[in-house]
Amino acid sequence: MKSNESVGELFELCMLGGSVERRFRRMRPEIERLPWGTLNPAAHSPELVIEARKSWTHAAYQEHRTGAACAETLRALIAARAPVDLIGVATRFPLDEMVHVEMCARLAEELGGGTHVEHDPRDLIPVPSLDLPPLLRATECVVQYFCVGEALSIPLLRGTWRAAKHPLIKGVLGRIVRDEALHGTFGFTFLGWVNDELGDADRKHLALSAARVVQSIRASWDNIPDVSGYESAELHALGWMDSHDYLALAKRSLEKRVIKPLAKFGIFVNEVAN
Ligand SMILES: [Fe+2]
Ligand SMILES: [Fe+2]
Repeated sequence: MKSNESVGELFELCMLGGSVERRFRRMRPEIERLPWGTLNPAAHSPELVIEARKSWTHAAYQEHRTGAACAETLRALIAARAPVDLIGVATRFPLDEMVHVEMCARLAEELGGGTHVEHDPRDLIPVPSLDLPPLLRATECVVQYFCVGEALSIPLLRGTWRAAKHPLIKGVLGRIVRDEALHGTFGFTFLGWVNDELGDADRKHLALSAARVVQSIRASWDNIPDVSGYESAELHALGWMDSHDYLALAKRSLEKRVIKPLAKFGIFVNEVAN
C-alpha cells in the first residue's frame, strides 16, 4: 500500500468512552487482560524510545488503513453477492483492525506518546474502479488487500512476535497474529470460490493490481528504520526484529505466501511486474 504521510491532516484518534467503550471492551475482553501500564521508557535509551514511539504510531496508522481496506472489501463482497457465510466471516475483520489500531496507539502512548503523522483521509487506500463488474471489483479488493497485504503481514508479525521480549508488546503482537491468521487465509478461500468465474483478461487485471501493491511494498522496504546500531536485546524488548532478519523474512514471505499462491490461481504477478 502506498503511504500518504507527507500532506493532509494529522493522524489523531479518540475514544467516546462511557457505555460505548464498555460495549467495545465486551466485544474483545481479552484486550484489557494484557499487562497495560508495564512499559518503562526510562529503562531504554531515549533515541530508541523515540524510534519505538514512531514505529508504533506508524503501526497504528497502517492498521487504520487496513480497517478501511477491510470495510471497502465488505462493501464490494456484498455488492457482488458473495456467499453470505463468507461475508459474515469477513464482517469481523474491521473490528479486529480497530482493536489493532487501539493497541498500537496505546503502546506508543505508554512509551511517551504518539508521533506526528500526516495523511490524506480521502486517499487512505488504493480503491478499485467502481466501473468494474461487481464480482471482479470484489476480487480485486480481496487480491490486493488480503492475498497480498494481509498474507504478507502474517509471517512478518509472527517473526516480530517471536522476537519480542516485553510481556505487553509480546501480548499485543500475539493478539494481532491470531486475528491476522484468519485474514490471510480468507483471501485464498475467496479465490477458491470465485476461480471458475474468472477469465484470462480478469486474471491479467488482477495480476496488474497485485503487482502495483507488491511494487509499493518493495519500495517501502527502503524506509525500514536503521536500528543496526542497537543491541538485539534492546530491540527485541521494544518489539523489533533486527532489520536484516526482517528484510530477509519479508523477501522470502513475498515469494512463498503471495506470489506462488496467486500463481496457483493463474494470477502471475511476476509476469506483469517490471
Ligand atoms: Fe491488523
Ligand atoms: Fe488484518
